[in-house]
Amino acid sequence: MKKADIGIYGLGVMGRNLALNFNDHEFGVSVYNRNLPGEEDLIAAFSSGEAAGTPIRTFNEVESFVASLERPRKILLMVKAGPPVDAVIDQLTPLLDEEDILIDGGNTHYSDTNRRLETLSQRHLRYIGMGVSGGEEGARHGPSLMPGGNAEAWPPVQPLLESIAAPSPEGGSCCAWMGPQSAGHFVKMVHNGIEYAIMQLIAECYQLMRNGLNMENQAIAHTFESWDSGLLNSYLLEITTRIFNTEDESGSLVLDHILDRAGQKGTGRWTALTALELGVPLPLITESVFARSISSFKDLRRQASDTLRFEAGGEPNAISTTSLREALLGGQLVAFAEGFWLLKTANEEFDWDIPFSEVARTWSGGCIIRSALLQPIATSFRENPDLPHLLLAPAFREILNAVQGGWRSTARFGVERGIPVPATTAALSHYDNLSTKRLPANLIQAQRDYFGAHRYERLDRPGGTFFHTDWTGGHKG
Ligand code: 6PG
Repeated sequence: MKKADIGIYGLGVMGRNLALNFNDHEFGVSVYNRNLPGEEDLIAAFSSGEAAGTPIRTFNEVESFVASLERPRKILLMVKAGPPVDAVIDQLTPLLDEEDILIDGGNTHYSDTNRRLETLSQRHLRYIGMGVSGGEEGARHGPSLMPGGNAEAWPPVQPLLESIAAPSPEGGSCCAWMGPQSAGHFVKMVHNGIEYAIMQLIAECYQLMRNGLNMENQAIAHTFESWDSGLLNSYLLEITTRIFNTEDESGSLVLDHILDRAGQKGTGRWTALTALELGVPLPLITESVFARSISSFKDLRRQASDTLRFEAGGEPNAISTTSLREALLGGQLVAFAEGFWLLKTANEEFDWDIPFSEVARTWSGGCIIRSALLQPIATSFRENPDLPHLLLAPAFREILNAVQGGWRSTARFGVERGIPVPATTAALSHYDNLSTKRLPANLIQAQRDYFGAHRYERLDRPGGTFFHTDWTGGHKG
C-alpha cells in the first residue's frame, strides 16, 4: 500500500479539519490520537463520521501510524501546547528515523520550541514550530500557516503546507517560511497579540455606541457593517456584524446574554511579557490584555460600580460614528505597528531573518487578523524591509493625518463620559509618544541622578558621555 504523505497526531477539532483539508488536496493522510481519558472514541468517530468514504487512514496504534508514513516522515502534531507536546515527542522519537520531520502546529511558547529544536537536532530529527491561524473553518478550508525551525525541513513540507493554506489576496498562499529556531511560533504569538488589540478596539466602539451614544443593537450592527469595507475590511469586523445579527430561540440577541468576562489562553500575555523583556513599548497590546484581565473581576466591578461610578453631568457630548470609525482605523494601524515592532526587535535580538512583507502576506488571508490593511503593510515592507516603524511608512501618512480628529474626539468622549477606552487611548499614546521629539524623560533622568547618582547624557555633548550633578549642593540658577 502506498505510504501516506503526512501524518496527523491529534484528532481535536483542528487536527480533524486539517486532515480533511490535506485529503481534499489529494495528499495521502494518516491520523492517530492518543487513547486518553475522554478521547477514546475520537478515532472511531472520525473514521465513521467526517472521514467516512475518504482514503484517510486512521490508526489506533502509534507504531503502525508511524510505519504508514512515507520517508522522510512528516508528522503534524495538533495536541495541546505545553507538556502534552513533550509527551508526544517522547513517544514518537524512538519510532522515527534520522531526517524525519515533526511539526508542532499548536500555540506553543517560543522558548519551548527552541528547547525542543535543540534536543531533537541532537537526534538528527527535524523540527518545525508552526503557527496555525483561522480556527476550525480555516483549518478545514484554508488556514494561515507560519512555519519556522530547521531550514532543511522546509523543502519537503513546503508543497503540502502551501497547498492547504488559504490563498493570499497578495498572490501565492498564506504560508511562508518565517525563519530559524522558533521564528514561526513567535510570529504566531505576535499575531495573537494583534488579535487581542483589534478585538478590544472593536469592543470599545461597541461600548461607546451602546453606553455613550445610546444606540440600539440594530443601529450598532448597521454601523459595524458599514465600516467593513475599504481599509477597515476585516474578518473581525465581519464576524462582529454577524454576532449582532444572531438571535437565540426566544428571538433576543445572544450577545446580550453573554457574561462580560473575557477568557484568555495566554498568547496575548506572552506577547506583552516578551515586549517587556525585549524593551519594546506595546501599550495597545498590553492594555488589551489588561482589559481582558479586569473584565474577569466581575464581582469586584459590580461592587465598585455602586460606589465609584462617575455620572457625567450635562448634555452628552455626542460624537459621530465616523469619529469612532477613524479611531478604529488609527488604532488598528497602531496594533499592526506594535506587532511588527516586536517582530523587528526579536529578529535583531535572536539573529533571525523574518521576512516582514511575507508575514503581512501570510496574514492577509486565512487568519483571524486578516484585513485589507495588510496589503499596504506588505507593500511597505517590500519597498523598505528596514522600515524602522510601520507608522513611518509613506502609505500611511495621509491616513494617519485624516483620522487624527475623530481618533482624539473618540478618546475624549470616552474619558469625559467615564466609558473605559483603554485600548483607544493606549493606541493614541503610542502615536503621541512616538511623534514627540522632546519627551519629559530629561526630568526622569534628573530624578534618577538625584536619588541614585545614575548619571545622564546631555543634549549639548556627544552621546555616551555621562554626567552627574551634586543636586543637594545648594547650587541654584
Ligand atoms: C487563531 C486564534 C487561535 C485561538 C486563540 C484564542 O489565530 O486561530 O488566535 O489561536 O482562538 O488561541 O486565544 P485566547 O483564548 O487567548 O483568546
